[in-house]
Amino acid sequence: MLVLGIESSCDETAVSIIRNNNKKEILSNIINSQITLHKQYGGVVPEYAARNHMIAIDLCIEEALKQSQLTLKDIDYISATTGPGLVGGLLVGAVTAKTLATELKKPFYAINHLEGHMLTVRLCYDVPFPFLLVLASGGHFIFAEITDIGKYRILGQTLDDAAGECLDKVAKLLGLEYPGGVNIEKLAANGDPRRFEFPIPMLRHKKGCDVSFSGLKTSARNLIQSGQYSDCKADIAASFQNIVMSFITKQTKKAINMCQSNIESIVLAGGVAANKLLRGMLESLAREHDLKFYAPPLNLCADNAAMIAWACIERINAGIPPSPITAPVNPRMSL
Ligand code: KG4
Ligand code: ZN
Repeated sequence: MLVLGIESSCDETAVSIIRNNNKKEILSNIINSQITLHKQYGGVVPEYAARNHMIAIDLCIEEALKQSQLTLKDIDYISATTGPGLVGGLLVGAVTAKTLATELKKPFYAINHLEGHMLTVRLCYDVPFPFLLVLASGGHFIFAEITDIGKYRILGQTLDDAAGECLDKVAKLLGLEYPGGVNIEKLAANGDPRRFEFPIPMLRHKKGCDVSFSGLKTSARNLIQSGQYSDCKADIAASFQNIVMSFITKQTKKAINMCQSNIESIVLAGGVAANKLLRGMLESLAREHDLKFYAPPLNLCADNAAMIAWACIERINAGIPPSPITAPVNPRMSL
């Protein structure tokens, strides 16, 4: 089975082809990043993003076919992200995929971007259900108990910002380039994580494992804008990264106790899953609870289309029928 996936929900135009017969093979994984375009604005400009997806998409498909040594006629299934994300980008990917599917008379699968992130570990390793998902990206933060394809029980989520969004905003205040998460991590490598204290969100009135990052962001902003510590940026980055990741780990511990099934592992996914400190903390937590820990390889943590093609294969293998060609894009699609 040869599956082509398209991802264009934010600032990456991505196309991947996966072959899944006896083994899972990523034949191509093309990512055309728009980072240099959006960098100058300090964040993604939706209209520019959509226009650039339009320019890049055909070239990405051509390149994916070339690297896979295939032609369009060889492809068995076509899939694309239809949400959540920026509507202009989603439309470019979805309309392209639907056009290909119609023209080639192949089934079309509409894929949820969050499901793509969530299932990436199963493309790379043998990860059985059920597992606890910690999904931390630039737009989302979710704890969910995953018992099967399509069986997702949300245990907690962010009450305000996503973890990646919060790191990006604090990075900007520190004068670091967009996207900030990875630059905070780099700067933090030379800093003291115990130099500054930030208040751990208590969420006193909330039971469960919800998270909140906006208070942390405000205290970081106050510290940075006070101007007293402008020569201590590495210590601020290290202390801030440490509190964010420790807080996520603390709430993950609560999420483990909220699972109703016999979970075997903790799965970390989304762009923030590339963070080595968080990977280490959750790995230790998993060990303490006799659980396994999985996160995608670093090159598959951020947005890519292999995760979309793979989510399509998971749906096919689970016996889920193709999507109607009229399936709409939904910028606010939930898991
Ligand atoms: O999943 P993703 O690529 O896009 C969305 O679906 O949102 O996640 C992007 C987020 C950004 O906020 C980025 O700063 C963050 O992931 N990120 C990181 C790291 N690499 C990317 N955050 C912390 N440490 C990293 N190494
Ligand atoms: Zn993403």
